[in-house]
Amino acid sequence: MEHPEIYLDAAATTPPLPAVIAVMQQLQQTAWANPSSLHGAGLAAAEALERARWRIAERFAVSPDQLIVTSGATESVHLALLGSANGLVPGRLVISSVEHPAVFAAAHQLEALGWSIAEWPVDGQGIVRLDQLEQLLSAPTRLVSLIAAQGEVGALQPVSRIAKACRERGILIHSDATQLVPQGCFPFERLGVDLLTLSAHKFCGPRGVGLLIRGPGVALSPLQGGGGQEHGLRSGTEPVALVSGMAEALMALPSFDPASHPVPPGCSLQIRRQRDQLLERLLELPQLQLCGPPLDQRLPHHIALIATTADGQPLPGRDLVRRLAAAGVACSSGSACSSGSSTDSVVLTAMGVPGIARKSGLRLSLGPWLSDQDLDAVPDRFASVLQAFP
Ligand SMILES: Cc1ncc(COP(=O)(O)O)c(C=O)c1O
Repeated sequence: MEHPEIYLDAAATTPPLPAVIAVMQQLQQTAWANPSSLHGAGLAAAEALERARWRIAERFAVSPDQLIVTSGATESVHLALLGSANGLVPGRLVISSVEHPAVFAAAHQLEALGWSIAEWPVDGQGIVRLDQLEQLLSAPTRLVSLIAAQGEVGALQPVSRIAKACRERGILIHSDATQLVPQGCFPFERLGVDLLTLSAHKFCGPRGVGLLIRGPGVALSPLQGGGGQEHGLRSGTEPVALVSGMAEALMALPSFDPASHPVPPGCSLQIRRQRDQLLERLLELPQLQLCGPPLDQRLPHHIALIATTADGQPLPGRDLVRRLAAAGVACSSGSACSSGSSTDSVVLTAMGVPGIARKSGLRLSLGPWLSDQDLDAVPDRFASVLQAFP
């Protein structure tokens, strides 16, 4: 490649921290055994696992037995929705119209089991409309799933506010915090939800491991049977090194209180300043417009743009992403999972973005690996890519 790549795709995934790699490497050698085994090697693995659980629990101010280790957010979301619905009389599940596809998929499975699904509409900035609250939380709503921070446009959702309303009405609420946690840890109870999903690869931890955190007394049924690990909720030999890597990655994150400061502090001290400076320079290019919420309602590392030609015609996001990659800027078009398809962005459609512009979304998400010098080079690379469009 002509230019070294500047990685601006933290919302898709993040590189593991050196401390995470070191911990995992060590544990692959010293704690490789089955934590259920009663011999010395098994006990060493069980001890390492227990230590990791305590560290994680501390970051969310919960008891270790409130943690269920999963393979990542996709599995956590399915366990949260299908596992909690199993103990409820079928009713209405409310999900926002800007969820990750994993939530739509789990909801679809519940539909086949007699649940009705209602989508909570969003405004033009991608934030759920609170004027719909009374109607959507009326009977027969029994379950709500609300993304905490939307990955494609960075919109922070009023989760604490909606969780309080759910609690008052006896409705169970799950939040997919996969994009929120990488910008700050918080006491679980302060968000007010019953179930919370997260995934380690989004916060510089290992791929293939995540968590479902549940409130005390929240009943869940497992999705699969077997050896009964994770309190019988997720059978399978525990991946000790992955869980320990996840714990190590969580240690590097700042803390915040989502009930009083809905915008998380950001994964590094300088991230918000870097984002704001980069955004200011990118918006000097007439072909780029900011998309989604204002900065005080957006993830602190996140930029979402709509790209057009000089005379205002929307440019295809996927094509732009390929050209930017060739110019050494790694970013994505819409959510990582949908960037392989050429269909309209579900999120931009829900936000009311018109016609062809729904294919023109670009997402830049910053991480602690970026220097000011890296970011200084980005606007010029954007400018030359945009100029080269016919
Ligand atoms: C909000 C959200 N939920 C769920 C997922 C799926 O995460 P995982 O890859 O850990 O299954 C993602 C990943 O892009 C996400 O951004």
